[in-house]
Amino acid sequence: MMNAKLGCLLAGALVFCGMAHAAGDAQRGQTIVMQGDGSGAPCLACHGLDGAGNDAAGFPRLAGLDAGYLEKQMQDYRTGTRQSAIMAPNVDNLDDQQIADVAAWYASQTAAVPPLPDADSELMAHGERLATRGDWDSYVVPCETCHGPGSEGVGSAFPRLAGQHAGYIKQQLQAWKSGARSNDPDQLMLAIAARLSDEQIEAVATYLARQPMQGDL
Ligand code: HEC
Ligand code: HEC
Repeated sequence: MMNAKLGCLLAGALVFCGMAHAAGDAQRGQTIVMQGDGSGAPCLACHGLDGAGNDAAGFPRLAGLDAGYLEKQMQDYRTGTRQSAIMAPNVDNLDDQQIADVAAWYASQTAAVPPLPDADSELMAHGERLATRGDWDSYVVPCETCHGPGSEGVGSAFPRLAGQHAGYIKQQLQAWKSGARSNDPDQLMLAIAARLSDEQIEAVATYLARQPMQGDL
């Protein structure tokens, strides 16, 4: 059997060799964003063409999230590992290549975090503490341990939280607490969310939503 590297060399297409699987094509992804998967609404109706999402409506920001992370989430909705009655019909007709394409589109978007009204300073300080230092009294590890400096995300496994909508962050933390979301590897997020009080969730979501998206966009 020919090894993969040799295959690449023979194909004369070295540029594709570093990519483990379906590399996304952002331009093809844009078409899907505008047209949808054929059965659901077009993605832009909820997430926007630029992936900014909408806090009040509960639509997460997708702009600037890692393509591999977005891909995994769509795969999880398609297989039901992550359950959402809203999202499942929007991706059930997409094949792996289309999922990679649309992930590439949204990952390449850089929509800035819009200025939000000032939040209570104690709440913000509490949120910052949780994100950067954790709360050792209740065994809460700092979010940055996994989500990286500034909670800007690390690779495909740990999504960017900086600039994500507060409503969505709260909703996801509550979903882990209640068991409604359980697609995290090794229950890494369940272990955190289970220890967070409603007040801590409010604080950390308020803080994270007000952090700029930086680095590796
Ligand atoms: C009717 C509104 C709507 C449409 C249309 C829609 N979405 Fe969503 N999307 C949502 C909601 C609501 C969530 C959060 C669901 C949850 O709680 O899991 C979400 C979540 C996601 C997530 C997970 C984000 C994260 O940070 O984990 C991805 C990825 C995503 N959508 C991609 C898409 C793509 C691609 C399309 C188009 C093919 C699309 N969505 C169409 C409403 C929508
Ligand atoms: C031990 C590692 C770890 C720590 C610490 C951690 N997380 Fe996570 N978090 C993860 C992983 C892994 C995922 C992605 C799960 C998946 O693949 O669906 C995630 C996903 C999330 C998501 C979903 C984002 C999205 O776009 O859907 C939110 C919200 C979140 N974490 C909030 C937090 C907050 C707030 C803290 C700190 C209080 C925190 N996390 C600490 C590992 C961690």
